[in-house]
Amino acid sequence: MDHFNFINGHLHVEQVDVSAIVEQHGSPVYLYSAQTLKNHYAVLQNAFSALAPLICFSVKSCSNLSVLKLLVDQGSGLDVVSGGELYRALMAGVTADKIVFAGVGKSHEEISYAVDVGVFLFNVESEAELLRLDAVASAAGKRVKVAIRVNPDVVDAGTHEKTATGGRQTKFGIPIERAYELFTPKRYASVDVVGIHIHLGSPIPSAHTYLSALDKIEEMVNRLQAADCPIEFINIGGGFPAQYSTESNPVCSLTETGSHICGRLQELKRLGLRFIIEPGRSISANAGVLLTTVEYIKQGWDRKIAIVDAGMNVLLRPTLYGANHVIWPTRFGDFSGHWTALSESVREAGAAPLEEVDIVGPICETGDHFALGRPLPVLEDASLLAIFSCGAYGMSMASQYNSRGRPPEVLVEGAHAKLIRRRETHDDLIAHERCGLENT
Ligand code: LLP
Repeated sequence: MDHFNFINGHLHVEQVDVSAIVEQHGSPVYLYSAQTLKNHYAVLQNAFSALAPLICFSVKSCSNLSVLKLLVDQGSGLDVVSGGELYRALMAGVTADKIVFAGVGKSHEEISYAVDVGVFLFNVESEAELLRLDAVASAAGKRVKVAIRVNPDVVDAGTHEKTATGGRQTKFGIPIERAYELFTPKRYASVDVVGIHIHLGSPIPSAHTYLSALDKIEEMVNRLQAADCPIEFINIGGGFPAQYSTESNPVCSLTETGSHICGRLQELKRLGLRFIIEPGRSISANAGVLLTTVEYIKQGWDRKIAIVDAGMNVLLRPTLYGANHVIWPTRFGDFSGHWTALSESVREAGAAPLEEVDIVGPICETGDHFALGRPLPVLEDASLLAIFSCGAYGMSMASQYNSRGRPPEVLVEGAHAKLIRRRETHDDLIAHERCGLENT
C-alpha cells in the first residue's frame, strides 16, 4: 500500500525518479509520499471504523509541518507531548478541539499554554500532574477534560525493551488500582476526569496485547460506572503495526489489529463511550524513505564496508534499537516492490550476485551502522541507497551530532516534488551559540 516502486529498474516515489530528488536537493535526504500517507490514514480509518474514533496522529513520529497539514486536511487530529509539538500542531492548522496532550513531564508553562489554547483532552500520568493542571486551569478560569493514563502492566514480547511502555517497571501511567480514586466526581475545582488512556508501546506486534490490556480497562470502566464516575472516553494510544521487514503485508496486520480491537470494544461503544487512537508509525513509517549515497567502499579484516553519507545522527533507530530497515540500491533490478528485495526468491532468481556488506555512517561511533553483513548487490562509490520505512522516528529523532546538519525533507505528490524542510547549513549549526561570542 505504499507508493515506492521500481520502474524500469529505477526507484520511484509516486511518479518521481528518486535520483532526480538527489540531483536537486543533494544527499542524504528524507523523502515522503503524500499518497501513501493518505492511504494509510484511510486504511486506519477503515480498520477502526466500527469504533469511529477520533484519530490523533502522533506528532513525534513525523513532525514536519507539511506532513502534519496533509493529515489534518484528511480530518486527522494530533497527539502532542510537549509545548513545542503543540505549537507545531497549531501551526499545521489543526483546531485545538482535535488535540490530545500526553507526556509524563508536562511543565507548568506547557500546561498553561495548552489550557489557554483549549486542547481537547489532557492525558495525565500522575496525581501531582493532575493537581498542577487543576491549579493552572482554575487560575485561568477554564475547565479542562482529562483522561488518566493507566499502567495496565501488560507487555508485548515483540516490543523492544526501550519502547515498551505498558509494563509495571516503566515510568508511564498510574497503576490501575491507584488510579481509581482520581476518578472521584467533583474532586477537583476545574478538572473533569472523564477518560482512560493507555499506550502499551511502539510498535505492538500482537493484537492480543491490546486485548489483554482492554480486558483490564473494561473491568475498570464497569467499576467506575457502578460508582457513578462519568467515563466518556477510552484512548487506546498508538503502536499499531508498520512494515519493517519483508515478512508480511502491513495493511493486513493493521486491519486485523483494528478489527480485533473494535470487536473487543463494541460493548463499551454500546454503553455510549467514545474512542481515541494515537497512531504514528502505522501512518508515517512506510510513507518515508531515507536516500543516502555511498562515499567509500573499503575492505576490512574480514568484511566489506560501505561508508554512506547518512549516519546515526540522521537515522538513529538501528543504533538505538537494533532496528532492521530494508536497504536497497535505487537503480538496480526491476523488482516489483522493495518488500521482496531481500527474499530468497530474489537471490535465486539470479538477478545479480549479492554480497554481504556492512552499511555504516560517517559518525565517530562504533554503533553508527544501518546494517551489518547485509546481502546487497555489489555497491560502488556513489551508489545511491534507499533505506525504507523511515517515515516514522527518522527525521524526528535526527540530531546535529558531530556537527552535521540535519538533511532536507521532500514531499512527493504524483509528479510533483516539494521541499518541505531545507538542509541545515554550517551557519544553522552555530546560530544559537553566537550569543556566547558577543561582547557584553
Ligand atoms: N501515543 C503515545 C502516548 C506515545 O508515547 C506514542 C509513541 C504514540 C502514541 C505513537 O506510537 P506509534 O503508533 O508511532 O508506535 N522512537 C521509537 C518509538 C517511540 C515511540 C514513543 N511513543 C522508534 O523509533 O521505534
